[in-house]
Amino acid sequence: MRLNLLARPIGRRRLLLAGGAVAAVGLAPAILRPVQAAEPTHRLAPGPGRVRLVGDEYPETTVWAYDGRVPGPKIRVRQGDRLRIAVTNALAEETTVHWHGVRVPNAMDGVPHMPQPPIASGETFTYEFDAVDAGTFWYHPHMRSHEQVGRGLYGALIVEEQKPIQVDRDVTWVLGDWRLKQDASISNDFGNPMDLSHNGRVGNTVTINGQVLENFPVRAGERVRLRLINAANARIFGLRFQGHRPMIVAIDGHPVEPHEPEGGHVVLAPAMRIDLVLDMTGNPGDRTTIVDDFYRDLAYRLVDLSYGQERLREQPLDTPLTLPANPVPEPDLSGAVRQEVTLGGGMMGTMAGAIVDGQMMDMRTMVRHGMAWAINGVAAIGHGEGHNGGHVMDPIFTLQRGQTCVIAMANETAWHHPMHLHGHTFRVLSRNGRSTQFREWQDTVLLAPRERVEIAFVADNPGDWMFHCHILEHQAAGMMSTIRVV
Ligand code: C2O
Ligand code: CU
Repeated sequence: MRLNLLARPIGRRRLLLAGGAVAAVGLAPAILRPVQAAEPTHRLAPGPGRVRLVGDEYPETTVWAYDGRVPGPKIRVRQGDRLRIAVTNALAEETTVHWHGVRVPNAMDGVPHMPQPPIASGETFTYEFDAVDAGTFWYHPHMRSHEQVGRGLYGALIVEEQKPIQVDRDVTWVLGDWRLKQDASISNDFGNPMDLSHNGRVGNTVTINGQVLENFPVRAGERVRLRLINAANARIFGLRFQGHRPMIVAIDGHPVEPHEPEGGHVVLAPAMRIDLVLDMTGNPGDRTTIVDDFYRDLAYRLVDLSYGQERLREQPLDTPLTLPANPVPEPDLSGAVRQEVTLGGGMMGTMAGAIVDGQMMDMRTMVRHGMAWAINGVAAIGHGEGHNGGHVMDPIFTLQRGQTCVIAMANETAWHHPMHLHGHTFRVLSRNGRSTQFREWQDTVLLAPRERVEIAFVADNPGDWMFHCHILEHQAAGMMSTIRVV
């Protein structure tokens, strides 16, 4: 399948030419339609806003948000649709929009200077791409991400299957994590050395679709497709649905053989999505707590499923849960090139130093300069993240278009890292040398401390693509790289 699509609107000159050709073959309406369709399908305006995140007893919070809402407007389209999203920057600084997990052409990927410049304050840029894969995706800036995302810039992008599975309700939960002060204002300590060198900016207030939620009303017998999106800077979620048996049907938007999570624990690292099918097996009037206990000392109640008096059906539905596959090219492992990627740095690690901007730097000096992490010994700067925003990285390796690549990652740090590859979807082949059961398609894979993970993908999308940790403080402090596909 070809992914590279013409992204530019049709210019006047081409239009006239097309018109001429049309007259000759008498197909005017069909050919003219794309011209009318060059109108944006969606508009987004990132800018400051005020929202109520916590209860009524607290003041509103000043955030940065798309269209003044947290999360931003939900974009919902059909698989195969073409999107034209006009983004008008109402922030006082540059921004971009990255369509996380969507396999877009390189120029539409929203990474500054790769190759598109960022959107200046007051300017508009129209992103244009096809929704080639169905699933649960999201959008966010790729410019000083740790602060722009951390202040509320993110939204859901849902691509519906041509034939969805049968459920009673299709629900999206965008999970956010905030570090708020007593007056519900956002703590301004973005990028502090402690967050940069430990587990990132884990906050103190978790929101579902922009609100601290007490209850989520459900009906006995109901089947809900619950699309979870982790939009937090750094918080990893580990959800337990007491007394319920969630089935995972998709990860990072892509279908997976429906299965129960190990130990009933739904683990969702930053940027990851998990689609659950949740049968409401309780009784009318029941109340069930969803607990997040990923960080052992920080377990808390996320929300309660609260059953109304009504019963929708006696027996849960027994219709199929398997989603139709997306058109992702299957890696050919026999002809694969293998690349080793080592993650290093952070506190309590063994990394003595790394190369920063071409120079070897010891860890102490790095931390003083807001750097703490490295990929293959290089702590990266640039691309609007962290330091020297205009700097453009050299790729860590180059792949020929169509080639299958296996990346063998080794996490040599004492911390978790969700590693995200742009422009492609990969299979997770193994963890610590053991094959995975489901060979999941993902775009973001969580590595536990010291873990080794192998992934494989077909490099079918030309361009320079970011490959970075999605704990945004780690990214800002050096844990990023690029991979070139020619
Ligand atoms: Cu969700 Cu490089 O990003
Ligand atoms: Cu990380």
